[in-house]
Amino acid sequence: MERTFVMLKPGVIQRRIAGELLSRFERKGLKITALKMLRIDKPLAETHYQEHRGKDFYQELIGYILSGPVAALVLEAEGAIALVRRLTGATNVKDALPGTIRGDYAASTTFNVIHASDSPENAAREIALFFKPEELTPWEDGNAQWY
Ligand code: PPS
Repeated sequence: MERTFVMLKPGVIQRRIAGELLSRFERKGLKITALKMLRIDKPLAETHYQEHRGKDFYQELIGYILSGPVAALVLEAEGAIALVRRLTGATNVKDALPGTIRGDYAASTTFNVIHASDSPENAAREIALFFKPEELTPWEDGNAQWY
């Protein structure tokens, strides 16, 4: 089993579509292992996006992430990182195909509704950044055989 980190960005909470996005992951069979709302502060935003510091879009990205509450979650499945990235769709909304979350819900790359870890190293780093170990709640999956 693999874990990945997902963040529903401020626009998702504002637009009241958090439930719809969570549903997509649940319907696919991913397990929600952790889930919380929070308001990100500047140090956390800068640490989370440290690899993008200095890029043209960096300030706008940080501004957006600080603009309102987000929902942070940990999802679990076999190959969860790649699976969630496929469901999420391309970063650039012009490339995000219909049927993916960004393809269906985002018209601007800056406001592309969702973040998902892109590698095992980043998943581990991001989960540890947003959650204390005791905030993760593993559970037995009685339906695993159906997915
Ligand atoms: S890149 O272009 O290789 O640095 O893209 P990537 O590593 O996939 O992630 C870039 C993050 O910055 C967000 N963002 C943008 N990326 C590209 N162009 C623009 N204009 C832009 N604006 C914001 C992008 O959504 C990635 O963040 P997350 O949170 O993962 O979506």
